[in-house]
Amino acid sequence: DGVWVGVDVGGTKVLAGVVDADGRVVRTARGETPGRRVDPTLVEDAIVDAVLRVAGEAPLTGVGLAAAGFVDAVGERVMFAPHLPWRGDPVRERLASRLGVALALDNDANCAALAESAYGAARDTTSSLMITLGTGIGGAFVLEGRVLRGRNGMAGEFGHMKVVPGGQACPCGGEGCWEQYCSGHALVRYARERLGREPTVLGELCGGDPARLTGPMVTAAAADGDLTARQAFWMVGNWLGLGVANLVAAFDAEVVVIGGGVSAAGERLLEPARAALRLSLVGADHRVVPPIVGAVLGPEAGLVGAVVLARSQS
Ligand code: BGC
Ligand code: NA
Ligand code: ZN
Repeated sequence: DGVWVGVDVGGTKVLAGVVDADGRVVRTARGETPGRRVDPTLVEDAIVDAVLRVAGEAPLTGVGLAAAGFVDAVGERVMFAPHLPWRGDPVRERLASRLGVALALDNDANCAALAESAYGAARDTTSSLMITLGTGIGGAFVLEGRVLRGRNGMAGEFGHMKVVPGGQACPCGGEGCWEQYCSGHALVRYARERLGREPTVLGELCGGDPARLTGPMVTAAAADGDLTARQAFWMVGNWLGLGVANLVAAFDAEVVVIGGGVSAAGERLLEPARAALRLSLVGADHRVVPPIVGAVLGPEAGLVGAVVLARSQS
């Protein structure tokens, strides 16, 4: 019979998965995000395509969409998205009618936070912070099982907190945003800056063309012991700990969960983050410093959480 499908649309890829009643991902299908300056219909096409591919012959029972953008307070529209073309588009209704099924919509990191609270690293906690590291930084603060939403539904946009006055330009239109220093995009930039200046396998991995360097290449090189790649992770991890210290100063959460594609690097990222958190957190010697842990559901947390949300609305 029918299947529940979750789909996560980010700045570079679309990941759809069939999720069973226990929150387990049965199978996945991937696609590429067509771009951030394209006709929004193309992004919607990529989503519909991934959902239909992963469902196969099975009819759809319900769909959850985790989107890398600012979703309104009622889950109807994506009002703004630095890495996607939607600007106030009625995404929930458009995709529900194209797929002929009920569809729930929320911000990707909010969905990941729901999944980690239900099945993952934030189970049995009262408060948690979720940080997803992909093309950008996604965030959510969860208190007693509920994601903080704010006036516009846009609370938790931690990636666009300004950390460097006059710093790197961000696709949100601002500059010096945290996600410009701590994300998959930043990881690649750090590695690129050192290419040609020191011995590194990254030169070969990108075929001598720094423009072709990707996050997964840096992750693989770091695992093989490449010092340039490791240094790039150290930079991202250090910025991660610094930003987390600011968030913990504000929210005093019990646990900090790190998800998204970059978190596949595990301890290589988390270790420097923990050290930087201890150094930067106000009153660290006089409080319980929260653990920084990897998302149990890994990069699939977003799509699983989208299904948790869709089920809760059915
Ligand atoms: C967007 C967020 C999104 C995050 C992760 C940020 O640039 O502003 O809405 O959650 O990227 O995809
Ligand atoms: Na969020
Ligand atoms: Zn920004």
